[in-house]
Amino acid sequence: MPSASSRADGLWRLAWTCSPVVEDSLLWRLEQVGIHHTATVREPHRGEVVTVLAWADRQAWSEQQVRQLAVSLATLAAVFQAPAPRFSLARQTWEEWSSSWKRHWRPDPVGNALLVLPAWLDCPPEQRHRRVLRLDPGRAFGTGEHPSTRLCMEALEGHQGVVKDALVVDLGCGSGILGITALALGAARVAASDVDPMAVSTSRENGALNGHGPERLQVVHGSSKALLPWVGFGADVLLCNILAPVIMELAPDFAQLLKTTGGQGWLSGLLISQADAVQKRLADLGWRTELADTCQNWALLAFTAWS
Ligand SMILES: C[S@@+](CC[C@H](N)C(=O)[O-])C[C@H]1O[C@@H](n2cnc3c(N)ncnc32)[C@H](O)[C@@H]1O
Repeated sequence: MPSASSRADGLWRLAWTCSPVVEDSLLWRLEQVGIHHTATVREPHRGEVVTVLAWADRQAWSEQQVRQLAVSLATLAAVFQAPAPRFSLARQTWEEWSSSWKRHWRPDPVGNALLVLPAWLDCPPEQRHRRVLRLDPGRAFGTGEHPSTRLCMEALEGHQGVVKDALVVDLGCGSGILGITALALGAARVAASDVDPMAVSTSRENGALNGHGPERLQVVHGSSKALLPWVGFGADVLLCNILAPVIMELAPDFAQLLKTTGGQGWLSGLLISQADAVQKRLADLGWRTELADTCQNWALLAFTAWS
């Protein structure tokens, strides 16, 4: 995976026009290689094709690397017996990205009572009954569009009794969307962390957009260990939407992050095909797990202590 980078050189805009059956796998592979800025354009009049857009930092990716990536991703179509995607590549500035990507993003109802609202839009009158989560994800992951994010948000909404007045840990906070959802549903306080400094500043900014200062949404740079000073004897709720191998690596720290009596954890970011391995890992560490929900190829695991 290419290394982290600065904004200096702008972006590659990668576009695949492909069958909708390929979309999920394409987005998954992009996420795996560290490309988080993606969008899917669906134009009804174009029928059975979608355009998957992805933006990669030019300081991190050479032209040769993005072209190689495109070639390797084109082979995904064959798995679904779909026609090979049509690929195009262009250069964009961050400003062009910001305006073109923002154009694709609309107010997004999640679950029964949540609305992810792009920070630059007004709440549509027909959605005013929903709890509004104002968001500008900047360069961080987490617009609420991705199934793994939605699964966690819906779990929070479905367990408001658990979330109310809770101390919540948001490990791998991205845009801060999960912690902000928990606060909107009545959590007392959220401790969030991310290894990406950009995600840390974005989460803080999004917290402020929703009226939450550091006394309610504490965002720290780092991973599980960076959260320990903020959780006392353990949080009531732990959320972690990160890829399966990372979840398995971080799992030994869950016992310090989450109350072992009465604590409730949710893990997403894993594929259904990876759920067994993650469940086994957590069971070995003494947690009781359950496949709580799925969306497309993605799984949500719930976990609690046995006692
Ligand atoms: C899939 S995104 C999830 C973002 C947001 N929580 C959501 O649900 O949409 C995963 C995030 O975890 C962060 N991350 C990856 N490895 C991590 C680690 N070991 N510790 C903490 N954060 C990590 C990434 O930088 C990224 O922002």
